[in-house]
Amino acid sequence: TQVEKGGHRHFMAKEIAEQPTVLGDALAHYLRDDTISLPEPGLDFSEFDRIVMVACGTANYACVVAKYWFERLSGLSVEVDIASEFRYREPPIPPRTLALFVSQSGETADTLAALRYCEGKAARIVSVVNVTESSIARESDLVLPIRAGAEIGVASTKAFTCQLTVLFLLALKGAHDRGRLDGEEMDAYLSALRHMPGLMNSALARSGDIGRVAKAVAEARDVLFLGRGAMFPLAMEGALKLKEISYIHAEGYASGELKHGPIALVDKSVPVIVMAPSDHLFDKTVSNMQEVMARGGKVLLITDTKGAKLAGDGCWKTLTLPEVEPMLAPILYALPAQLLAYHAAVAKGTDVDQPRNLAKSVTVE
Ligand code: G6P
Repeated sequence: TQVEKGGHRHFMAKEIAEQPTVLGDALAHYLRDDTISLPEPGLDFSEFDRIVMVACGTANYACVVAKYWFERLSGLSVEVDIASEFRYREPPIPPRTLALFVSQSGETADTLAALRYCEGKAARIVSVVNVTESSIARESDLVLPIRAGAEIGVASTKAFTCQLTVLFLLALKGAHDRGRLDGEEMDAYLSALRHMPGLMNSALARSGDIGRVAKAVAEARDVLFLGRGAMFPLAMEGALKLKEISYIHAEGYASGELKHGPIALVDKSVPVIVMAPSDHLFDKTVSNMQEVMARGGKVLLITDTKGAKLAGDGCWKTLTLPEVEPMLAPILYALPAQLLAYHAAVAKGTDVDQPRNLAKSVTVE
């Protein structure tokens, strides 16, 4: 009903708009007196040499973003896999492996099977879930709730950014436990996280502009999303959102991989959506954009003011977001990616909350 949708036209719109609030709640839940506090029995990252993360769909892309964070901050080596592959591959699980499962519903059959496999190998099992009364939560040694509140739209939105928030806190804890982050650095990251709800509100305020671009994107048959570093998995998530609800064929690629295939698709009818804050890799992304533009491709650049300036002329459209701590950019840039998919779907008149052939929770193989 309209009441349940809080005045929004769709659950997805409501859930996108809720993100500043739920993210703030998740943060408040995990931060006590400026330190990260995990539920019992807690977790000490100095006991591990390696993390394996397993999930499906959007939750899997949250894991891929977190891989960049864990490696950079904690120095732990990280492997990420989709659950349906992991469970049948019988991968070796050496001692001192932390097995981390991410699932909104906590009921995804493949993810649960992957968890049971790791349990059989005596790995420590930690899960990051939204539904705490779920099978995955019940079978974990430690459960980390993302506290996003009920998510009704089939395409995951607020669960994704809350998963990222909890995973970032874990990466910080990992860095701290392993003596790789001093108090000052910790405070700086935590303060950047606390600014996130405000930055998200600025991103949400761009919804009208994004809606106008989305109308043009909705005309396309194929769309490419590009990103570098931790923005690469976000490019894949942006493409997933668009294909799930607007049925437009979309692919997410690492910007540097463009010339190894996808550039063959580029012509004036293919929007290329580049998600790139002005970080240390930005000039490399600019040259990738020039390669696209030289072939008549339409670049939609999502960046900050500094990035817009550095990129120069030639983009089809540019959307600017506030500046953000580069490591946290995937959390902020998730919002324009979600809004773009949402508005494209609305323009096409598809069933936004219940896209054809998809289920909210895949409890059978
Ligand atoms: C389905 C949903 C996706 C979700 C995926 C994993 O495909 O449509 O939105 O990302 O399952 O679900 P989980 O509940 O395990 O996060």
